Amino acid sequence: MSGRSGMAVVYYATRDGQAQRIAEHICRKLDEGGTPTAPRNLLPDLPAPGELAAAPLIVLVAAVRYGKHLPEADRFLAAYRALPAPPPLALASVNLTAGNAYLRKTIARHQLTPALAAAFAGRLDYRRYGWRDRQIIRFIMLLTGGPTDPDTCIEYTSWDAVEDFAAQIAALQRSE
Ligand SMILES: Cc1cc2nc3c(=O)[nH]c(=O)nc-3n(C[C@H](O)[C@H](O)[C@H](O)COP(=O)(O)O)c2cc1C
Repeated sequence: MSGRSGMAVVYYATRDGQAQRIAEHICRKLDEGGTPTAPRNLLPDLPAPGELAAAPLIVLVAAVRYGKHLPEADRFLAAYRALPAPPPLALASVNLTAGNAYLRKTIARHQLTPALAAAFAGRLDYRRYGWRDRQIIRFIMLLTGGPTDPDTCIEYTSWDAVEDFAAQIAALQRSE
């Protein structure tokens, strides 16, 4: 195991908190019966390359904004890819539809070979968004048949799917 030991290290990139909630849920599942650890925000600073290299397994939960994972998630993956011997990666995308297209693009752009990859549906909360974002997303919803009421707040996340993902990470951790 090349000097790596301990638990998976969980990172997240968020703007409105859903990727963080998902990362926290994964941590709670991984820690069941053990010492709780907190997931780490990629803002304001990315982890040092040494921290990444020493992790037995890396989990990244990254939210999507306007067709892409957040920029700090991209910077993180570039740093991860530059490691001489990167640890296994479990990658999760958070977007409105649990769509895989964002994952496929990110995996291709960074030439990743994640041990696990999953997409989770996030949250729609118009009241949190600024005027411009709210109007654009309402317009997209109008086109795609989603909710347009500006008071809408819906959590689409399947916590069962998040728990399945955490169980797969735990199994990977045991096999490392
Ligand atoms: C400004 C903005 C742009 C978004 N763009 C997309 C998008 O292109 N595709 C998508 O599936 N979801 C999109 N979403 C939905 C978010 O991915 C979803 O709300 C997710 O829960 C956000 O994660 P966060 O709470 O961790 O920031 C967008 C949301 C906002 C507020």
